[in-house]
Amino acid sequence: MSGPDPQDWRRWVVYQIYPRSFADSDGNGVGDLRGILAHVDYLHELGVDVVWLSPVFRSPMDDNGYDISDYQDVDPLFGTLADLDELIAELHARGMKLVLDLVVNHTSDEHPWFIQSRSSRDNPRRDWYWWRDKPTNWESHFFGPAWTRDDTTGQYYLHLFSAKQPDLNWENPEVRQAVYAMMRWWLDRGVDGFRMDVINMISKDTSLPETRPRPGSAYGPAGQYFTSGPRNHEFLQEMYREVFAGRDAHVLTVGEMPGVTIRDAVLFTDPARHELDMVFQFQHVQLDIGANKFDLLPLKLPDLKAAMADWQHGLAGRGWNSLYFGNHDQPRSVSRFGDDSPAHRVASAKTLATVLHLHRGTPYVYQGDELGMANSPFTALADFRDIETLSFYAGAEARGDVDLPALLLAMARMSRDQARTPVQWDASPGAGFTTGTPWLAINPDHTQVNAAVEVGDPGSVFEHYRRLIALRHQDPVVTDGDFELLLPDHPTIWAFLRRTAGAELLVAANFSAEVTALRLPLAASQAGDWAAAPVVLTSLTGETPLQPPPDLKLRPWESVVWRRARS
Ligand code: NOJ
Repeated sequence: MSGPDPQDWRRWVVYQIYPRSFADSDGNGVGDLRGILAHVDYLHELGVDVVWLSPVFRSPMDDNGYDISDYQDVDPLFGTLADLDELIAELHARGMKLVLDLVVNHTSDEHPWFIQSRSSRDNPRRDWYWWRDKPTNWESHFFGPAWTRDDTTGQYYLHLFSAKQPDLNWENPEVRQAVYAMMRWWLDRGVDGFRMDVINMISKDTSLPETRPRPGSAYGPAGQYFTSGPRNHEFLQEMYREVFAGRDAHVLTVGEMPGVTIRDAVLFTDPARHELDMVFQFQHVQLDIGANKFDLLPLKLPDLKAAMADWQHGLAGRGWNSLYFGNHDQPRSVSRFGDDSPAHRVASAKTLATVLHLHRGTPYVYQGDELGMANSPFTALADFRDIETLSFYAGAEARGDVDLPALLLAMARMSRDQARTPVQWDASPGAGFTTGTPWLAINPDHTQVNAAVEVGDPGSVFEHYRRLIALRHQDPVVTDGDFELLLPDHPTIWAFLRRTAGAELLVAANFSAEVTALRLPLAASQAGDWAAAPVVLTSLTGETPLQPPPDLKLRPWESVVWRRARS
């Protein structure tokens, strides 16, 4: 088989680093750039093509760096600009790329732009943010009101997130030009692309209408007035012209888009429209939550399969999917979608990876997922650090309308802190992450779950990820193949086909701890020679499948990938 073009961004695999939790080089308990530099060879060994670095810019750290006070400098907590330059060079030297986090829906309230804006009603930067005499009843994503009164001028400013994250006014062309200039500055410095934070919130309904409050609250969600708003496409096309067009190398772009629909995503990612390469959609990570993320619902596998398949079909031939089960805002994927019990953690982490990476689109590996890292046994309020989690708890406590012990249990399942526990490099007390006191507790399971035991062990989650990534690099069907879901209603089996004119992959995965036998519903013309097709990957390393397709018998959390040529 002839391999895919290495320059084709559609074959790349992205690895996300949350710097605070990756590796601490100076013993202060917080990860930093020199810590990342010490592990560049690890990333290379894993085989990923691109590193997406969550924010390392100057920040008061109200939201761990998603509140930026200087877009063109590195926060001393993480290192220096020279360290970042070195990271770019070291990644490039190994054929990898660096994507920065672009957080421009809002700045920090300590950004000079906002300091000037708030200083007086006639400051030239006043209109860079949203100021009004009267607030609306919008709820912020971190709960409570989305407007805060500023005593200096007596007006209110809009913040869709915390009060320390005022929203920029993208209606103002000066704001947009300032953002574009900053982006060009980074690209000229060697950066290869951007992950764009909540980029479908930058265009608001400028009349800022009142919304429907939640029952029993003065505030309510107002997403309909700022999600994929009226000028969103226009702004991104302008950004493309001003920043990306005419550059020698492809600039990789992915827009984080809570609430985005398939219809909008097609428009955002259709290459002919020159907006973005791909978007992060949220449909599949909202199936197990109700009124808010701590209102847990049981997850049904057919719903998860359908959500993923809808996006596969919706974007096929038009846009491009990004594929993720976890990131710094979601709990650990093996605990949420797999089975993190000692008996099944390894197989289920591999099975999740197999299913995700063999959908069509760009897979994102969140740091530690390649080790099968699981949720921590958090039990007390003091275990948590995250602003979203703590604000929700404080609100619930103040209102007195929530069962707090039950809420703590839900927080242990869904808090963003679960993704943010330090990466487990080895079994030592600091897990090889730090020699000091970690800013967030290390999962006690690091004595068993860590990179030192996994790298080089053929049965490990790490080596499974390595094989999956290599398979994508070698076999064009992984990037190019059509997607067809089999058995959509089966409660525990996730099976699908990927097909190009020349080759075909069959993926069958058991999402349960029960041995499951079934016959795959393959068309008669396709069924015969699957029995002779070789296995290219299995989650039960070293084991041969109990039966060849189409009659399957899958062991607990067993997933198998078969490949055959098509004539
Ligand atoms: C989305 C980011 O992923 C999240 O971590 C952050 O809190 C919000 N946007 C606000 O920037």
